[in-house]
Amino acid sequence: MAKFQHPVKRIGVYTSGGDAPGMNAAIRAVVRSAIHSKLEVVAISSGYVGMVEGDFGPLNLRSMANIIQRGGTVLKTGRCPEFTKAETRKIAAEHVRKAQLDGLVCIGGDGSFRGAHLLWQEHQIPIVGIPGTIDNDIYGTDFTIGFDTAVNTALDAIDRIRDTAASHDRLFIVEVMGRNTGFIASHVGLAGGAEEIFTPDVPITVEQAIEKIRTGRNRGKLSSILIAAEGQKPGRAYDLAEQIRKKTGWDAKVCILGHTQRGGTPTASDRVLASRLGAAAVETLIRGECDVMVGVQNSAIVAVPIELATGKEKQTPRDLLKLANILAN
Ligand code: ADP
Ligand code: F6P
Repeated sequence: MAKFQHPVKRIGVYTSGGDAPGMNAAIRAVVRSAIHSKLEVVAISSGYVGMVEGDFGPLNLRSMANIIQRGGTVLKTGRCPEFTKAETRKIAAEHVRKAQLDGLVCIGGDGSFRGAHLLWQEHQIPIVGIPGTIDNDIYGTDFTIGFDTAVNTALDAIDRIRDTAASHDRLFIVEVMGRNTGFIASHVGLAGGAEEIFTPDVPITVEQAIEKIRTGRNRGKLSSILIAAEGQKPGRAYDLAEQIRKKTGWDAKVCILGHTQRGGTPTASDRVLASRLGAAAVETLIRGECDVMVGVQNSAIVAVPIELATGKEKQTPRDLLKLANILAN
Protein backbone atom coordinates (compact mmCIF):
# COMPACT_ATOMS: atom_id res chain seq x y z
CA MET A 1 0.00 0.00 0.00
CA ALA A 2 1.18 3.52 -0.76
CA LYS A 3 1.12 6.49 1.62
CA PHE A 4 0.59 10.13 0.77
CA GLN A 5 1.18 13.25 2.82
CA HIS A 6 -1.82 15.51 2.60
CA PRO A 7 -4.59 16.45 4.95
CA VAL A 8 -7.62 15.18 3.05
CA LYS A 9 -10.28 17.87 2.77
CA ARG A 10 -11.93 17.27 -0.56
CA ILE A 11 -12.37 14.01 -2.46
CA GLY A 12 -13.86 12.96 -5.79
CA VAL A 13 -15.90 9.84 -6.54
CA TYR A 14 -16.61 8.12 -9.86
CA THR A 15 -18.04 4.90 -11.27
CA SER A 16 -16.32 3.28 -14.24
CA GLY A 17 -16.68 0.22 -16.50
CA GLY A 18 -19.93 -1.75 -16.53
CA ASP A 19 -22.63 -0.62 -14.11
CA ALA A 20 -23.50 -3.02 -11.29
CA PRO A 21 -26.43 -3.10 -8.86
CA GLY A 22 -25.25 -1.67 -5.54
CA MET A 23 -23.00 1.00 -7.05
CA ASN A 24 -25.48 3.64 -5.86
CA ALA A 25 -25.34 2.27 -2.32
CA ALA A 26 -21.53 2.54 -2.51
CA ILE A 27 -21.66 6.15 -3.78
CA ARG A 28 -24.09 7.02 -1.00
CA ALA A 29 -21.78 5.47 1.61
CA VAL A 30 -18.74 7.34 0.23
CA VAL A 31 -20.56 10.69 0.19
CA ARG A 32 -22.27 10.39 3.56
CA SER A 33 -19.31 8.99 5.46
CA ALA A 34 -17.04 11.64 3.93
CA ILE A 35 -19.41 14.43 4.94
CA HIS A 36 -19.67 12.84 8.40
CA SER A 37 -15.86 13.24 8.59
CA LYS A 38 -16.14 16.89 7.49
CA LEU A 39 -14.87 16.33 3.95
CA GLU A 40 -16.28 17.84 0.77
CA VAL A 41 -17.23 15.44 -2.02
CA VAL A 42 -17.23 16.06 -5.75
CA ALA A 43 -18.89 13.85 -8.38
CA ILE A 44 -16.96 12.93 -11.52
CA SER A 45 -19.48 12.02 -14.20
CA SER A 46 -19.23 8.92 -16.48
CA GLY A 47 -15.92 7.57 -15.15
CA TYR A 48 -12.76 8.48 -17.01
CA VAL A 49 -14.80 10.16 -19.75
CA GLY A 50 -15.90 12.84 -17.26
CA MET A 51 -12.45 13.06 -15.70
CA VAL A 52 -10.90 13.82 -19.08
CA GLU A 53 -13.60 16.35 -19.93
CA GLY A 54 -13.57 17.98 -16.48
CA ASP A 55 -17.22 17.07 -15.90
CA PHE A 56 -17.20 17.56 -12.10
CA GLY A 57 -19.97 18.71 -9.74
CA PRO A 58 -20.61 19.05 -6.00
CA LEU A 59 -22.43 16.40 -3.96
CA ASN A 60 -24.25 16.81 -0.67
CA LEU A 61 -26.20 14.67 1.78
CA ARG A 62 -29.47 15.22 -0.05
CA SER A 63 -28.04 14.31 -3.47
CA MET A 64 -27.89 10.79 -2.08
CA ALA A 65 -31.57 10.58 -1.08
CA ASN A 66 -33.56 7.59 -2.36
CA ILE A 67 -30.77 5.89 -4.26
CA ILE A 68 -29.80 3.00 -1.98
CA GLN A 69 -32.44 0.77 -3.59
CA ARG A 70 -31.73 1.75 -7.20
CA GLY A 71 -29.71 -0.24 -9.74
CA GLY A 72 -27.31 1.43 -12.19
CA THR A 73 -25.26 4.43 -11.11
CA VAL A 74 -26.46 7.99 -10.58
CA LEU A 75 -22.96 9.23 -11.46
CA LYS A 76 -23.23 7.50 -14.87
CA THR A 77 -20.45 5.26 -16.03
CA GLY A 78 -18.54 4.75 -19.20
CA ARG A 79 -15.69 3.18 -21.04
CA CYS A 80 -12.90 5.47 -22.17
CA PRO A 81 -10.44 3.58 -24.40
CA GLU A 82 -8.20 6.68 -24.75
CA PHE A 83 -7.39 6.42 -21.05
CA THR A 84 -4.76 3.82 -21.89
CA LYS A 85 -2.75 6.72 -23.40
CA ALA A 86 -0.45 8.71 -21.10
CA GLU A 87 -1.39 12.05 -22.69
CA THR A 88 -5.09 11.45 -21.95
CA ARG A 89 -4.34 10.60 -18.32
CA LYS A 90 -2.29 13.84 -18.07
CA ILE A 91 -5.35 15.87 -19.09
CA ALA A 92 -7.48 14.02 -16.52
CA ALA A 93 -4.88 14.63 -13.79
CA GLU A 94 -4.86 18.37 -14.59
CA HIS A 95 -8.64 18.51 -14.08
CA VAL A 96 -8.32 16.67 -10.77
CA ARG A 97 -5.67 19.15 -9.58
CA LYS A 98 -7.70 22.14 -10.76
CA ALA A 99 -10.70 20.85 -8.78
CA GLN A 100 -8.38 20.65 -5.73
CA LEU A 101 -9.22 17.03 -5.01
CA ASP A 102 -6.93 15.46 -2.40
CA GLY A 103 -7.99 11.92 -3.25
CA LEU A 104 -10.38 9.86 -5.37
CA VAL A 105 -12.62 6.85 -4.86
CA CYS A 106 -12.98 4.69 -7.97
CA ILE A 107 -15.92 2.26 -8.05
CA GLY A 108 -15.40 -0.22 -10.88
CA GLY A 109 -13.69 -3.35 -12.12
CA ASP A 110 -10.07 -4.30 -12.76
CA GLY A 111 -9.81 -2.17 -15.91
CA SER A 112 -10.88 0.91 -13.96
CA PHE A 113 -8.34 0.04 -11.26
CA ARG A 114 -5.55 -0.16 -13.86
CA GLY A 115 -6.35 3.41 -14.86
CA ALA A 116 -6.40 4.45 -11.18
CA HIS A 117 -3.02 2.84 -10.52
CA LEU A 118 -1.48 4.76 -13.44
CA LEU A 119 -2.92 8.06 -12.17
CA TRP A 120 -1.16 7.43 -8.87
CA GLN A 121 2.11 6.32 -10.45
CA GLU A 122 2.31 9.06 -13.05
CA HIS A 123 0.62 12.00 -11.31
CA GLN A 124 0.58 11.07 -7.59
CA ILE A 125 -3.22 11.24 -7.44
CA PRO A 126 -4.20 9.12 -4.42
CA ILE A 127 -6.97 6.67 -5.28
CA VAL A 128 -8.79 3.93 -3.39
CA GLY A 129 -10.75 1.37 -5.42
CA ILE A 130 -14.07 -0.27 -4.57
CA PRO A 131 -14.78 -3.47 -6.54
CA GLY A 132 -18.05 -3.01 -8.44
CA THR A 133 -18.84 -5.54 -11.16
CA ILE A 134 -21.37 -8.34 -11.57
CA ASP A 135 -18.55 -10.65 -12.72
CA ASN A 136 -16.93 -11.14 -9.27
CA ASP A 137 -13.64 -11.54 -11.12
CA ILE A 138 -11.42 -9.33 -8.97
CA TYR A 139 -8.59 -10.95 -7.06
CA GLY A 140 -8.33 -10.07 -3.37
CA THR A 141 -12.01 -9.80 -2.54
CA ASP A 142 -14.42 -12.67 -1.96
CA PHE A 143 -17.26 -10.65 -3.47
CA THR A 144 -17.70 -7.65 -5.72
CA ILE A 145 -20.66 -5.29 -5.53
CA GLY A 146 -23.42 -6.44 -7.91
CA PHE A 147 -22.50 -10.12 -8.08
CA ASP A 148 -25.10 -11.30 -5.56
CA THR A 149 -27.86 -9.36 -7.31
CA ALA A 150 -26.85 -10.66 -10.75
CA VAL A 151 -26.84 -14.23 -9.46
CA ASN A 152 -30.30 -13.82 -7.96
CA THR A 153 -31.64 -12.20 -11.13
CA ALA A 154 -30.27 -15.01 -13.29
CA LEU A 155 -31.57 -17.62 -10.87
CA ASP A 156 -35.06 -16.15 -10.98
CA ALA A 157 -34.97 -16.45 -14.79
CA ILE A 158 -33.69 -20.04 -14.62
CA ASP A 159 -36.47 -21.03 -12.21
CA ARG A 160 -39.01 -19.67 -14.69
CA ILE A 161 -37.37 -21.49 -17.58
CA ARG A 162 -37.49 -24.70 -15.56
CA ASP A 163 -41.31 -24.48 -15.49
CA THR A 164 -41.41 -24.59 -19.29
CA ALA A 165 -38.60 -27.15 -19.52
CA ALA A 166 -40.49 -29.49 -17.19
CA SER A 167 -43.89 -28.93 -18.82
CA HIS A 168 -42.58 -29.67 -22.33
CA ASP A 169 -39.81 -32.17 -21.46
CA ARG A 170 -37.33 -29.79 -23.04
CA LEU A 171 -33.62 -29.15 -22.98
CA PHE A 172 -32.60 -25.52 -22.38
CA ILE A 173 -29.21 -23.82 -22.55
CA VAL A 174 -29.14 -20.63 -20.49
CA GLU A 175 -26.25 -18.26 -21.17
CA VAL A 176 -25.08 -15.98 -18.38
CA MET A 177 -22.58 -13.10 -18.26
CA GLY A 178 -19.25 -13.07 -16.43
CA ARG A 179 -16.64 -12.16 -19.01
CA ASN A 180 -13.72 -14.65 -18.87
CA THR A 181 -14.72 -16.27 -15.60
CA GLY A 182 -17.51 -18.57 -14.47
CA PHE A 183 -18.54 -17.06 -11.14
CA ILE A 184 -22.12 -16.28 -12.12
CA ALA A 185 -22.35 -19.57 -14.05
CA SER A 186 -21.08 -21.74 -11.19
CA HIS A 187 -23.31 -20.09 -8.59
CA VAL A 188 -26.53 -20.16 -10.63
CA GLY A 189 -25.66 -23.64 -11.93
CA LEU A 190 -25.44 -25.01 -8.41
CA ALA A 191 -28.38 -23.02 -7.04
CA GLY A 192 -30.52 -23.71 -10.12
CA GLY A 193 -29.86 -27.45 -10.33
CA ALA A 194 -28.23 -27.38 -13.78
CA GLU A 195 -27.14 -30.65 -15.40
CA GLU A 196 -23.89 -29.21 -16.70
CA ILE A 197 -22.08 -25.87 -16.43
CA PHE A 198 -19.84 -24.61 -19.22
CA THR A 199 -17.25 -22.08 -18.03
CA PRO A 200 -14.32 -20.53 -19.92
CA ASP A 201 -11.63 -21.87 -17.58
CA VAL A 202 -12.86 -25.41 -16.79
CA PRO A 203 -13.23 -27.48 -19.95
CA ILE A 204 -16.41 -29.55 -20.26
CA THR A 205 -17.04 -31.22 -23.59
CA VAL A 206 -20.37 -31.30 -25.37
CA GLU A 207 -20.09 -35.11 -25.28
CA GLN A 208 -19.91 -35.02 -21.47
CA ALA A 209 -23.05 -32.92 -21.32
CA ILE A 210 -24.86 -35.21 -23.73
CA GLU A 211 -23.86 -38.26 -21.70
CA LYS A 212 -25.17 -36.62 -18.52
CA ILE A 213 -28.50 -35.78 -20.14
CA ARG A 214 -28.79 -39.27 -21.67
CA THR A 215 -28.17 -40.95 -18.32
CA GLY A 216 -30.85 -38.72 -16.79
CA ARG A 217 -33.31 -39.56 -19.57
CA ASN A 218 -32.73 -43.28 -19.04
CA ARG A 219 -33.75 -42.75 -15.44
CA GLY A 220 -36.86 -40.82 -16.51
CA LYS A 221 -35.55 -37.26 -16.17
CA LEU A 222 -36.98 -35.69 -19.31
CA SER A 223 -36.12 -32.01 -18.94
CA SER A 224 -32.65 -30.51 -18.53
CA ILE A 225 -30.99 -27.15 -18.06
CA LEU A 226 -27.41 -26.42 -19.07
CA ILE A 227 -25.67 -23.21 -18.05
CA ALA A 228 -23.14 -21.61 -20.38
CA ALA A 229 -20.90 -18.73 -19.29
CA GLU A 230 -20.53 -16.26 -22.17
CA GLY A 231 -16.71 -16.40 -22.06
CA GLN A 232 -15.07 -14.55 -24.88
CA LYS A 233 -17.93 -15.23 -27.24
CA PRO A 234 -21.33 -13.97 -26.12
CA GLY A 235 -23.91 -16.05 -27.97
CA ARG A 236 -21.87 -19.27 -27.66
CA ALA A 237 -25.00 -21.02 -26.32
CA TYR A 238 -26.23 -21.12 -29.93
CA ASP A 239 -23.03 -22.95 -30.98
CA LEU A 240 -23.52 -25.45 -28.15
CA ALA A 241 -27.16 -26.01 -29.18
CA GLU A 242 -26.09 -26.61 -32.76
CA GLN A 243 -23.40 -29.08 -31.72
CA ILE A 244 -25.91 -30.96 -29.56
CA ARG A 245 -28.43 -31.02 -32.40
CA LYS A 246 -25.84 -32.38 -34.84
CA LYS A 247 -24.69 -35.10 -32.43
CA THR A 248 -28.09 -36.20 -31.10
CA GLY A 249 -30.90 -34.62 -33.08
CA TRP A 250 -32.18 -33.02 -29.86
CA ASP A 251 -33.69 -29.55 -30.06
CA ALA A 252 -32.02 -27.41 -27.39
CA LYS A 253 -33.75 -24.10 -26.70
CA VAL A 254 -31.41 -21.19 -26.05
CA CYS A 255 -32.01 -18.31 -23.64
CA ILE A 256 -29.38 -15.56 -23.33
CA LEU A 257 -29.96 -13.53 -20.17
CA GLY A 258 -27.58 -10.72 -21.21
CA HIS A 259 -27.96 -7.29 -19.68
CA THR A 260 -31.02 -8.24 -17.61
CA GLN A 261 -28.36 -9.46 -15.15
CA ARG A 262 -26.80 -5.99 -14.82
CA GLY A 263 -29.87 -4.02 -13.76
CA GLY A 264 -32.46 -4.08 -11.03
CA THR A 265 -32.78 -3.54 -7.32
CA PRO A 266 -29.64 -4.56 -5.42
CA THR A 267 -30.03 -7.37 -2.89
CA ALA A 268 -29.56 -6.74 0.83
CA SER A 269 -26.14 -8.43 0.62
CA ASP A 270 -24.98 -6.08 -2.11
CA ARG A 271 -26.26 -3.01 -0.26
CA VAL A 272 -24.52 -4.06 2.96
CA LEU A 273 -21.26 -4.80 1.13
CA ALA A 274 -21.45 -1.51 -0.79
CA SER A 275 -22.12 0.49 2.39
CA ARG A 276 -19.21 -1.13 4.24
CA LEU A 277 -16.77 -0.71 1.35
CA GLY A 278 -17.84 2.89 0.69
CA ALA A 279 -17.15 3.88 4.29
CA ALA A 280 -13.87 1.90 4.33
CA ALA A 281 -12.62 3.65 1.19
CA VAL A 282 -13.10 7.08 2.79
CA GLU A 283 -11.40 5.97 6.03
CA THR A 284 -8.46 4.66 3.98
CA LEU A 285 -7.97 8.03 2.25
CA ILE A 286 -8.27 9.91 5.56
CA ARG A 287 -5.47 7.70 6.95
CA GLY A 288 -3.31 8.81 4.01
CA GLU A 289 -3.29 5.37 2.35
CA CYS A 290 -3.91 4.82 -1.34
CA ASP A 291 -3.27 2.68 -4.41
CA VAL A 292 -5.33 -0.04 -2.73
CA MET A 293 -8.67 -1.68 -3.29
CA VAL A 294 -10.92 -2.21 -0.28
CA GLY A 295 -12.52 -5.63 -0.36
CA VAL A 296 -13.97 -8.35 1.82
CA GLN A 297 -12.24 -11.56 2.88
CA ASN A 298 -13.95 -13.99 5.28
CA SER A 299 -16.45 -11.24 6.14
CA ALA A 300 -13.70 -8.79 7.21
CA ILE A 301 -12.88 -5.60 5.32
CA VAL A 302 -9.35 -5.66 3.89
CA ALA A 303 -7.12 -3.37 1.82
CA VAL A 304 -5.38 -5.04 -1.12
CA PRO A 305 -2.70 -3.30 -3.24
CA ILE A 306 -4.22 -2.44 -6.62
CA GLU A 307 -1.26 -4.05 -8.38
CA LEU A 308 -2.13 -7.34 -6.71
CA ALA A 309 -5.87 -7.03 -7.36
CA THR A 310 -5.25 -6.39 -11.05
CA GLY A 311 -2.22 -8.64 -11.43
CA LYS A 312 -3.65 -11.98 -10.30
CA GLU A 313 -6.52 -13.98 -11.71
CA LYS A 314 -9.39 -15.28 -9.63
CA GLN A 315 -10.43 -18.77 -10.72
CA THR A 316 -13.98 -20.09 -11.12
CA PRO A 317 -14.71 -22.05 -7.91
CA ARG A 318 -14.05 -25.68 -8.87
CA ASP A 319 -15.69 -27.00 -5.70
CA LEU A 320 -19.05 -25.49 -6.71
CA LEU A 321 -18.81 -27.02 -10.19
CA LYS A 322 -18.00 -30.41 -8.73
CA LEU A 323 -20.84 -30.26 -6.24
CA ALA A 324 -23.33 -29.09 -8.88
CA ASN A 325 -22.30 -32.08 -10.98
CA ILE A 326 -22.89 -34.55 -8.16
CA LEU A 327 -26.21 -33.02 -7.10
CA ALA A 328 -27.71 -32.76 -10.58
CA ASN A 329 -28.07 -36.52 -10.94
P1 ADP B 1 -14.02 -2.68 -15.65
O1 ADP B 1 -13.50 -1.56 -14.84
O2 ADP B 1 -15.41 -3.08 -15.27
O3 ADP B 1 -13.06 -3.87 -15.71
P2 ADP B 1 -13.18 -1.93 -18.33
O4 ADP B 1 -12.20 -3.03 -18.46
O5 ADP B 1 -14.02 -1.61 -19.52
O6 ADP B 1 -14.22 -2.17 -17.15
O7 ADP B 1 -12.38 -0.63 -17.90
C1 ADP B 1 -13.06 0.58 -17.64
C2 ADP B 1 -12.21 1.74 -18.10
O8 ADP B 1 -10.97 1.75 -17.37
C3 ADP B 1 -11.77 1.68 -19.56
O9 ADP B 1 -12.76 2.16 -20.44
C4 ADP B 1 -10.57 2.61 -19.55
O10 ADP B 1 -10.99 3.94 -19.52
C5 ADP B 1 -9.93 2.28 -18.18
N1 ADP B 1 -8.87 1.28 -18.35
C6 ADP B 1 -9.03 -0.06 -18.55
N2 ADP B 1 -7.83 -0.67 -18.71
C7 ADP B 1 -6.90 0.31 -18.62
C8 ADP B 1 -5.45 0.34 -18.70
N3 ADP B 1 -4.75 -0.77 -18.90
N4 ADP B 1 -4.84 1.53 -18.56
C9 ADP B 1 -5.54 2.66 -18.35
N5 ADP B 1 -6.89 2.71 -18.26
C10 ADP B 1 -7.56 1.56 -18.39
O1 F6P C 1 -18.18 -6.66 -16.81
C1 F6P C 1 -19.57 -6.72 -16.73
C2 F6P C 1 -20.16 -7.25 -18.01
O2 F6P C 1 -21.57 -7.25 -17.90
C3 F6P C 1 -19.65 -8.61 -18.46
O3 F6P C 1 -20.25 -9.68 -17.77
C4 F6P C 1 -19.96 -8.58 -19.94
O4 F6P C 1 -19.11 -9.43 -20.66
C5 F6P C 1 -19.72 -7.13 -20.29
O5 F6P C 1 -19.81 -6.38 -19.09
C6 F6P C 1 -20.67 -6.57 -21.31
O6 F6P C 1 -20.26 -5.27 -21.58
P1 F6P C 1 -21.17 -4.21 -22.37
O7 F6P C 1 -22.26 -3.77 -21.44
O8 F6P C 1 -20.25 -3.11 -22.70
O9 F6P C 1 -21.75 -4.94 -23.54
